[in-house]
Amino acid sequence: MFQINENYQKLPGSYLFSAIAKKVAAYSEKNPDKPLIRLGIGDVTQPIAPAIIEAMHKAVDEMGQAETFHGYAPDLGYAFLRKAIVENDYKARGCEISEDEIFVSDGAKSDSANIQEIFAVENKIAVCDPVYPVYVDSNVMAGRTGVYDPDTERWSDVIYMPCTAENNFAPEFPKAAPDLIYLCLPNNPTGTTLTKAQLQEWVDYANKTGAVILYDGAYEAYISEEDVAHSIYECKGAQTCAIELKSFSKNAGFTGVRLGYAVVPKALQCNGVSLHDMWARRHGTKFNGAPYIVQRAGEAVYSPEGKEQIKKQVAYYMKNASAIKQGLKENGYTVFGGVNAPYIWLKTPEGMTSWEFFDFLLERANVVGTPGSGFGPSGEGYFRLTAFGSYENTLAALERIAKL
Ligand code: MLT
Repeated sequence: MFQINENYQKLPGSYLFSAIAKKVAAYSEKNPDKPLIRLGIGDVTQPIAPAIIEAMHKAVDEMGQAETFHGYAPDLGYAFLRKAIVENDYKARGCEISEDEIFVSDGAKSDSANIQEIFAVENKIAVCDPVYPVYVDSNVMAGRTGVYDPDTERWSDVIYMPCTAENNFAPEFPKAAPDLIYLCLPNNPTGTTLTKAQLQEWVDYANKTGAVILYDGAYEAYISEEDVAHSIYECKGAQTCAIELKSFSKNAGFTGVRLGYAVVPKALQCNGVSLHDMWARRHGTKFNGAPYIVQRAGEAVYSPEGKEQIKKQVAYYMKNASAIKQGLKENGYTVFGGVNAPYIWLKTPEGMTSWEFFDFLLERANVVGTPGSGFGPSGEGYFRLTAFGSYENTLAALERIAKL
């Protein structure tokens, strides 16, 4: 008789955004006359920029001709895309990353869930709390997290680094030394970030203790402050301790197109074993590459027109972020984030848990957000709104909230 991976049985409930989607669908079914404004999951709403669409059309046509048809993509991704990534995301920022250190993928969600595979199951992970749930859940599935305590909502073998208003959302170095440290900056869900100097401290800490930082930079395009690093490789020594994961979802609207990449520097080694080689082996075995059409779309993100167009989209979403922040403040809410990230993190009104506020907002304002406690125990008493809606819907949601 076959046996299942028992680790899956340890997962409490369903994936956060699936649980919310179910709850919202049930509400909509019961209340078809109440149009909802969805500011929950961080899904983009602006159409793909024209320069990118044009590149995709061209690539589609190429696929229809024998001379320009493309089958399997190269293991690491097409050279044209890896070159554009290195030139724009690294060289332009003074980071020494080479093209063969880039692994093109179908997005940062899968990379951030899969990367743990190349590490020993005994490794101890440290996560910010609240945190993007994929980091913890993927380690649960791998059997790395120990036992779940429903009272504290914590796993026995996970090191939690609380990030709350009290510590300005900056994780503190944990007492127990972790092996793998997940950092998402600018942060999902809190919308806050660290300065480059603070990030440098994490790089120094990882190099000193022999830990690896798994750095999720999905929201990098939203950075507006000067003293914030756009890549962890802007920090000295990051090449020997950090893997960076990037996405095209939030900067270029690829949530439905799917494209991302991982940077695994060759200098990152464990007792002489190269993590780059391990990830290359894993990538070659388990992944057949992002589609040619999508990689051409990715290349267009870095074209002069593409850059100009996506800059406007980012500005559009950040206008929403400012409006949400301002509107909530005017209505007496305590709000964070929204300066270097398209997320607003707010304190729930006195006496309301995150899920109570979720229900209250859904039922009374027909606005969907994300309960902070869904991201971890330290998210209790907080709530996340995304700036990825349309401007009109964002203002309408604020009007509804103001009337509560
Ligand atoms: C979120 O809402 O946190 C994100 O959209 C989830 C994701 O990027 O997978």
